[in-house]
Amino acid sequence: MGLLGLVLSLPLVAAGLDFSYHHTAELEAFLREVRANHSSITHLYSIGKSVEGRHLWVLALGRFPTQHKIGIPEFKYVANMHGDEAVGREMLLHLIDFLVTSYQHDPVITKLIDSTRIHIMPSMNPDGFEATEQPRCYPSQGRNNKNGADLNRNFPDGFISNPYTIQPETQAVMDWIKTETFVLSANLHGGSLVASYPFDNGNSVTITSDGISQTLDNDVFVHLAKTYSTSHTTMYNKQGCTTGDHFTDGITNGFAWYQVEGGMQDYNYIWGQCFEITLELSCCKYPPKEELPSFWSDNKMALIEYIKQVHLGVKGRVLDKDEEPISDVIVETRGRRHVCPYRTNKDGEYYLLLLPGVYVLNATAPGYKSVFQILNVPDGTEYFSALTYDFILPDVSAAPKFVSCPTTPRYTENTSTILKPTVNILILINILYAVFR
Ligand SMILES: *[C@@H]1O[C@H](CO)[C@@H](O)[C@H](O)[C@H]1NC(C)=O
Ligand SMILES: *[C@@H]1O[C@H](CO)[C@@H](O)[C@H](O)[C@H]1NC(C)=O
Ligand SMILES: *[C@@H]1O[C@H](CO)[C@@H](O)[C@H](O)[C@H]1NC(C)=O
Ligand SMILES: [Zn+2]
Repeated sequence: MGLLGLVLSLPLVAAGLDFSYHHTAELEAFLREVRANHSSITHLYSIGKSVEGRHLWVLALGRFPTQHKIGIPEFKYVANMHGDEAVGREMLLHLIDFLVTSYQHDPVITKLIDSTRIHIMPSMNPDGFEATEQPRCYPSQGRNNKNGADLNRNFPDGFISNPYTIQPETQAVMDWIKTETFVLSANLHGGSLVASYPFDNGNSVTITSDGISQTLDNDVFVHLAKTYSTSHTTMYNKQGCTTGDHFTDGITNGFAWYQVEGGMQDYNYIWGQCFEITLELSCCKYPPKEELPSFWSDNKMALIEYIKQVHLGVKGRVLDKDEEPISDVIVETRGRRHVCPYRTNKDGEYYLLLLPGVYVLNATAPGYKSVFQILNVPDGTEYFSALTYDFILPDVSAAPKFVSCPTTPRYTENTSTILKPTVNILILINILYAVFR
């Protein structure tokens, strides 16, 4: 090859990540190279180690990748929690490659990175991935972590006292969720083709007559799941993978599909103040690498569109009369009270995912009078920003009482008055009637 041929072939070489499975060493090398090549918008960190001592790597992308900034929502993707479900792991590496190489070239990706802090964890179970034999659709090992625990049954459960010992990988994710103000998330799996949304577990308080275990944010969750399935090339119009599946629009309620105790999506929603759905990306859990390019083209748009949804709804701060932020203020939408009330972070911030519409927001500093505000919420995804509204609580003179949210179980049959929306909705209707008639 002459010199000219060499020069012309360079862009192809620089095109980056190949379509193959990246084991621990290659995955780490790739993340370090991305970090080095795009240092202004990336930050590489580990949230802890697996049982066998492998790092649980996260690449954060954003205009301010190393720290939270007021008003910039935190988003996360986690894959390969089941070590033998390998497609999500490679999809997230390709997503990273796509995001960094599109920044300042593609206007949408540039806006997305400038307006969002995106945390990407390609593998939550690196030991399981390494323990899995070569690609095959139903590997006989590698699903669980090194101690034999299924990590998606290992989180504190909202409905029962979960008997399992919390594993290091689970604990690392729980600590991570506590550290960052995550707003939206997805957990990437394989073995089916569907977007599944909370709850995964349930009881008489949450289970409807259709067999759905429903949150009070069901409209938002259905929208989130449909955003993924309809932006995916085939998910929305396939009937899943087996003849037993009947997924309409490529989505399902988790519990209605099959009940899971100790799952990660319920944990994020109940204790993490973070809306998470579970994405099943492939019928075959660990397909031949030759199929990875078509998986990437099927999922690329969906992965991007889903991140944008972090800008739905309302966000803002709660301040005292001196404009100092107040943490631990409960800020909730009328009719959507969470069993563990969603509270402001140390910067006084709240983020509430809501579809466009009129809502009453209620800010309560425990020990003080609560304040409410009626808001007309537009679709923030168009602007890459949720509606911003700051509450001023003039009466609050000292730090509000910290309201702890006890662990298991939270949804006891006796909490039904909290969950049943009837009363709150009546109040809402009355207020809206008074204001808008
Ligand atoms: C980093 O930059 C080098 C030099 O341009 C390039 O060869 C390499 O492919 C890049 N790596 C990644 C992961 O972007
Ligand atoms: C706001 O919510 C709190 C509980 O979080 C409740 O006690 C209070 O009555 C509510 N305020 C209004 C104005 O509805
Ligand atoms: C509900 O509360 C009553 C009394 O407060 C108690 O006896 C009963 O066991 C509770 N039921 C459940 C399912 O927690
Ligand atoms: Zn799985």
